[in-house]
Amino acid sequence: MEKRELLHEGKAKRIYATDNSYYVVQEFKDTISAFDGAKKSVMAGKGEINNEISCYLFEYLNNYQIPTHFVQRLSATEMLVKKLEMIPIEVVMRNIAAGSLVKRYGIEEAKVLDYPIFELYLKDDERHDPMISESFTFALGHCTPEQMRFINRITSKVNAVLKSLFDRRGLALVDFKLEFGKMDREIFLADEISPDTCRIWDKKTSKKLDKDRFRKDMGDVEASYRELMRRIMNMPPEKE
Ligand code: ADP
Ligand code: TMP
Ligand code: ASP
Repeated sequence: MEKRELLHEGKAKRIYATDNSYYVVQEFKDTISAFDGAKKSVMAGKGEINNEISCYLFEYLNNYQIPTHFVQRLSATEMLVKKLEMIPIEVVMRNIAAGSLVKRYGIEEAKVLDYPIFELYLKDDERHDPMISESFTFALGHCTPEQMRFINRITSKVNAVLKSLFDRRGLALVDFKLEFGKMDREIFLADEISPDTCRIWDKKTSKKLDKDRFRKDMGDVEASYRELMRRIMNMPPEKE
């Protein structure tokens, strides 16, 4: 597969064409941003960490018959994925109260929810990703009711599979964001699954190990991302 021209440069990744029109290369950058790009920095090695974690998790989910865009890892910072027509929606699922759920509804942080919450946001940085309803997505032609049922079912399955994996690694999956895309009329899970797009806490200490450390200036961002990579991928501890 030959890497060709840059098709899209976003806040955290670049998408390149290949010599096969069905595939693109997704390259992870070392930039880290929050609040729709308002807060930005560079973290050496982040591209590698997020690519390795995403490759591992997509492969893991593929084994559970979850249709993802992942084809193969190409290098430390690149993966080959199916080229999709992206649905401009951010799908969020929550198991434990944190972030905007706490801010918006006054729910106590760390409250374990009786049932996972499924939310939809329009992917539109300029308007700060406003929350939308399912009927909004049908009205605007983003997807059909049948496709939304599929997205809901896949999101719940991703939650069950990752919650159980993380639990075995001593980690709590607090919440996460997914993006989906279409090829013909088929829907695939796309984008990334990383500490940028999930909240993950240590089960014993409740230490935050994800991008909240950057959002809230908590320090140890790189060390926490590295720790997450080692624990999720079951790698041996780093030598001193
Ligand atoms: P953003 O655009 O939000 O700043 P990124 O830096 O993550 O985000 O850029 C990656 C872009 O690639 C996003 O717009 C995402 O929706 C898109 N994308 C993810 N997976 C695919 C895919 N399989 N095919 C085409 N585009 C994709
Ligand atoms: P929130 O609590 O800020 O709404 O975030 C919910 C989850 O979605 C959390 O795991 C972080 C992730 N997320 C993104 O991946 N991108 C975003 O733009 C936002 C706002 C949240
Ligand atoms: N993903 C958004 C950004 O990079 C917002 C966030 O994660 O807080 O700016």
